[in-house]
Amino acid sequence: MIQLKLNLDQLYGFVPKEELLSYDKKISSVYRAIYNKTGAGNDFLGWVDLPSSYTEERISAIEQHAAELRAKSEVFVVVGIGGSYLGARAVIESMSHHFAQLCGHTPHIVYAGHHISEDYTADLLDLLDRKDYSMAVISKSGTTTEPAIAFRILRAHIEKKYGVEEARRRIVAITDQSRGALKQLADSEGYATYVVPDDVGGRYSVLSPVGLLPVAVAGIDIRQLIDGARKMENMSRTVQNLHGNPIAWYAAARQALYHSGKTVEVLVNYEPRLFYLTEWFKQLYGESEGKENKGIFPAGVGFTTDLHSMGQYIQEGLRFLFETVISVGTPERELRVPEADSDLDQLNYIAGKRLSEVNHKAEQGTTLAHVDGGVPNIRICIPEISANTIGQLIYFFEMGCALSGYMLGVNPFDQPGVEAYKKNMFALLGKKGFEAQTAELTKRLGL
Ligand code: PA5
Repeated sequence: MIQLKLNLDQLYGFVPKEELLSYDKKISSVYRAIYNKTGAGNDFLGWVDLPSSYTEERISAIEQHAAELRAKSEVFVVVGIGGSYLGARAVIESMSHHFAQLCGHTPHIVYAGHHISEDYTADLLDLLDRKDYSMAVISKSGTTTEPAIAFRILRAHIEKKYGVEEARRRIVAITDQSRGALKQLADSEGYATYVVPDDVGGRYSVLSPVGLLPVAVAGIDIRQLIDGARKMENMSRTVQNLHGNPIAWYAAARQALYHSGKTVEVLVNYEPRLFYLTEWFKQLYGESEGKENKGIFPAGVGFTTDLHSMGQYIQEGLRFLFETVISVGTPERELRVPEADSDLDQLNYIAGKRLSEVNHKAEQGTTLAHVDGGVPNIRICIPEISANTIGQLIYFFEMGCALSGYMLGVNPFDQPGVEAYKKNMFALLGKKGFEAQTAELTKRLGL
């Protein structure tokens, strides 16, 4: 059964329920475009039935390989960027002890190739000098600059540390079935390889080996993750309209809000372990919807931390915001506010309460304050943070994004705008074939 529930009680003051219901036909037609593969980007719909496509054999193979890597790694490096990195990190951080590294939990998962910072990469090498490690290099295209640079450096390091033969056993490549430089290298070196399916784009790939292998190496139950996503997939396929489908309501609410001038969606969490889920959400929605000068800008905050920074803006700044809160029922651990003899801090009125009770009151109070300040509120409720509910959330957001993109009239599966910075960077670095741009950009920069 699906545990994720959508609560729109604090939205209807801004967008009446009747207005949302008027999107029913549109939702059904967009759903048809997805399932009949008739919409833009229809060759990138492999994620739609990815959860239900897993066989026991494929899951066991990933688990077994992950167990081997875990056994010989104090550190596991995930090399990738964008969709080839954020999904795995979102799941791993959602499901890990907050101080895993300092508590000695191994393998510790670290990331590389998601930027080009020299200091970060050099510091990472310091760590890898001291620790036993293995790594997954993930790139669907196999040609993305950031992970390619990181992998070139890390490959040299791991080969020097363990010798070429053992290094080969410690490197996993996750890439396209047949194309790209990484595929060629993996084949020539004999790395263990997983395929990013052709019809699954980077930001929709967390439930493919791109996410599952690192998640399994982190010791997280990928069966539960897939099961949660599968439940959401089944619901979505069964109810392709507003009648009992929370994804459809979410997509309709976003459209209605967008057309009423609410052009920034702030994803809110009250649990720091959901930070990277927000980063993943930002990438999924930003790259999918932000094109043709359209789209909701996806932002994120962690409360109550950011109530002491962004809270002021949300309460009283420009009124172009709406909030989507991921509301978690019960935490995994139990901790209560202690009674104090002196009560100097005047907290005895909440002595004996669980921290989560206080956190929930903060959530309720903040929601009402922000609604009073003109910020519509959508609540996505999950009973707890578990691999299963995270799987549900992932599929919820993926399908919500596809529905939203189609309703907006854009192709939610391409990312043409990402090329602009790359062309400039290549030109400025003097890459062959970019000579004309090099001269122009150099002049503009006054170099
Ligand atoms: O969603 C996307 O397609 C992108 O964010 C990619 O995942 C990202 O650019 C990395 O691409 P690649 O896996 O080809 O290295």
